[in-house]
Amino acid sequence: MSSQVTVIVLAAGGGTRMKSKTAKVLHPIAGRSMVGHVLAAVSELRPSSVVTVVGHQREQVAAHVRELLPEVVLAVQESQDGTGHAVRVAWEALPADERTGTVLIAYADTPLLEGESLAAFLAAHAQTDHAISILSGRVADPRGYGRVIRDDAGDVTAIVEEKDATSEQAAVDEINSGILAFDADFLDSALGRIGNDNAKGEFYLTDTVAIARADGRTVGAYPLDDVMQTEGANDRAQLAVLAAEKNRRILERWMRDGVTIIDPASTWIDVDVTLAEDVTILPGVQLLGTTAVAEDAVVGPDCTLKDCEIGAGARVVRTHGELAVIGADANVGPFSYLRPGTELGEGGKIGAFVETKNAQIGDGAKVPHLSYVGDASIGEGTNIGAGAIFANYDGVNKNRSTVGKQVKTGVHNSFVAPVTIGDGAATGAGAVIRADVPPGALAVSSPAQRHYGDWAQRKRAGTAQAAAAEAAAACENEDGPAGDQSPEE
Ligand code: UD1
Ligand code: CA
Repeated sequence: MSSQVTVIVLAAGGGTRMKSKTAKVLHPIAGRSMVGHVLAAVSELRPSSVVTVVGHQREQVAAHVRELLPEVVLAVQESQDGTGHAVRVAWEALPADERTGTVLIAYADTPLLEGESLAAFLAAHAQTDHAISILSGRVADPRGYGRVIRDDAGDVTAIVEEKDATSEQAAVDEINSGILAFDADFLDSALGRIGNDNAKGEFYLTDTVAIARADGRTVGAYPLDDVMQTEGANDRAQLAVLAAEKNRRILERWMRDGVTIIDPASTWIDVDVTLAEDVTILPGVQLLGTTAVAEDAVVGPDCTLKDCEIGAGARVVRTHGELAVIGADANVGPFSYLRPGTELGEGGKIGAFVETKNAQIGDGAKVPHLSYVGDASIGEGTNIGAGAIFANYDGVNKNRSTVGKQVKTGVHNSFVAPVTIGDGAATGAGAVIRADVPPGALAVSSPAQRHYGDWAQRKRAGTAQAAAAEAAAACENEDGPAGDQSPEE
């Protein structure tokens, strides 16, 4: 960009139709607030400064905008007296040496806006001497918008708001998107000359077009074919329409970049997700936040993964995950719940009905069935038997357990943290491990099995159970005596 660009983002409006405690422009689409999308788009222009005008729910909006863009200039518009008033408030908040070059006006509720379109618009503006360039659009239904009025030569003479339009003007199908580029010197001279003698009694920024023409300056209008980029969401129904369209665009981009998406209709991908070539997404998948999926991984069906990292060639089926890291060629699911701090090594497995949290599970290690692994490290090549519970919480503190390499634990074990199991150790079925197990040892903790002979015949006489036992005993007596001894250790 040859000349300096200052951006003014208008975000003071009420957004009452959202019927929400949350300010309109903070409602999210594709993992980012509406104003976040706009700030991302305008940031691509490398502006020298960005002013955001806040009014309604200003604490919320200001705090959010400052978090996204710490260097933002915030301007407070006490009462919403129109777009012209809002820009004047922004202008006054700018240091004098920033009031130069080109000034771009944008609205905070247009989440589909792309930096590329703004750059092309500003490049066209920079080719001219125009006091104002209008990013316009040709629409089938211009209702609600300001109309771009041109003279017989096709030169722009005014923007007329719907409520102030004659029927002839109202029939014009070229509309003001709201995005305007101003020559800063002209804007500076014009802001004080906007009146509010109109149907709404507001100070219309769009009146600057007629002011420019009266000054002998020219105004240009550049229709943007992709009108959805400048559409705003005023209620939650419009929000859903724009969210679906944003998602469709994100998916299309990934498919063009080599990702297979079997069912785009049931796939939702946030804007900050990254996917490698030859990733396959099966139906019913939400990839949220900063989730990253490496090449050849297959995700789905039916997964929600937020801020997760999925390694190359990994397979994740019917899983809910947050802040989890899955190694290359690992297997997860179906029906796994990966909570923050889960790290699964290369070729590892987290299987059906397994919940993990702050769990480092080593390369090739497996937790295949029905288990809870919280606050634990499991070494490489170890197999955790079905039904293991890492009892990490003693009612007061969370404690960590460590299982070494190449350990085989029996089914239905409890590991009462903190406990350490040495490399190459094993545990018996049903063990409750309360003390450290040395490397290579077998730990058993359930009492030896005992039999109370003929219990059913004695204690349940006359029942079907007793009859079955008697019949079995009769057969066994033919083959030899049945003892009442306990099984061998
Ligand atoms: C405005 C334009 C119209 C254009 C349309 C595109 C004017 C007078 N009209 O109309 O030509 O076709 O947008 O959507 O500019 N805002 C403030 N402070 C205010 C008033 C508005 O910050 O005092 C903000 C709003 O939050 C909103 C934006 O400016 O983001 C537009 O305001 P809105 O009242 O919706 O303008 P429209 O009447 O739709
Ligand atoms: Ca509007």
